[in-house]
Amino acid sequence: MARDKITVVGAGNVGATTAHIAATRGLGDIVLVDIVQGLAEGKALDIAEASPIELSSPAITGTCDWEITAESDIVIVTSGFPRKPGMSRADLLAKNVQIVNDVSTKIARHSPDAIVIVVCNPLDAMVYTAAKVTGFAKDRVMGMAGVLDSGRFSYFIACELGVSVEDIKCVLLGGHGDDMVPLPRFTSVSGIPITELLDEEKIAELIERTRKGGIEVVNLLGYSAYYAPAAGAVKMAEAILRDTKAVLSCCAYCRSEYSAGGCFVGVPAVLGRNGVEKVIELDLNRSERNQFEESLAHVKELAAKVDKLL
Ligand code: NAI
Ligand code: 2OP
Repeated sequence: MARDKITVVGAGNVGATTAHIAATRGLGDIVLVDIVQGLAEGKALDIAEASPIELSSPAITGTCDWEITAESDIVIVTSGFPRKPGMSRADLLAKNVQIVNDVSTKIARHSPDAIVIVVCNPLDAMVYTAAKVTGFAKDRVMGMAGVLDSGRFSYFIACELGVSVEDIKCVLLGGHGDDMVPLPRFTSVSGIPITELLDEEKIAELIERTRKGGIEVVNLLGYSAYYAPAAGAVKMAEAILRDTKAVLSCCAYCRSEYSAGGCFVGVPAVLGRNGVEKVIELDLNRSERNQFEESLAHVKELAAKVDKLL
């Protein structure tokens, strides 16, 4: 059986870490592509040289040549400017839309049957850009943010309660911005709702820290997070390539679900070999719906800006 082929676009912090994690998990043959001469080649060589030590797959190529990416099963797009202290994700839109436009054209040309996972920010708007430019079926284009934000929320809950991170399951809705909507009613520790274990004030504090999770890291490092984001991208790729039907919060196309018709926005979705195989619609209460609608309005605002820029 042919091995799966995974292209990671952008060999910067998120891209190289994604390629490294994918290699250690033996996800398939990896191609790392960047516009900077030598960067992807150097990072790929370094990752391949770690393989005998880590007992991981050495099947990784770094390149500037898109021909080598041909017929990829999955393309993970991390090519984009990250934010610096003082910047919002939306501040990246004008520059990153051009990069994602360029890259999406190349994906459509070289890997017309691929599934695309976008990571660049502002996330929901960049997913919309990739879907529009590739012209791919909308279930084959999605974005990674909910897995990262769920990871952050789960980690904070686990620390607060002194329990294993493995036992936390959570759901987030909305755009990947400060108005994302973590849902405590659907968040549990081994099936026990967190509303049974933590008081309202503490939950609100953990939600706020999750919403600001990206900037917390930016303020410490001076640049953007990449270990957890890369782990999130690989988790989605693995669910797709191994057809696990994992339910993950991710940026997916909603038809009638959540009355978000025609938008790419964060929702829980079933991921399998066909991409987004189902969007799971939850029965939201009034407060949850209001928060989601506020976030959706921002997502739509940025998509409208993309339309003007493309
Ligand atoms: P980085 O600056 O370390 O890497 C970006 C790479 O993209 C650079 O190596 C650059 O040369 C490359 N690149 C630029 N234009 C290209 C093109 N046309 N073709 C191929 N490669 C190109 O940035 P980092 O930290 O890796 O972040 C990447 C993006 O991911 C940013 O937009 C950042 O905001 C976003 N991000 C999103 C997260 C999420 O949860 N969705 C989490 C973390 C980062
Ligand atoms: C994050 O949340 C920058 O979106 C990225 O860390």
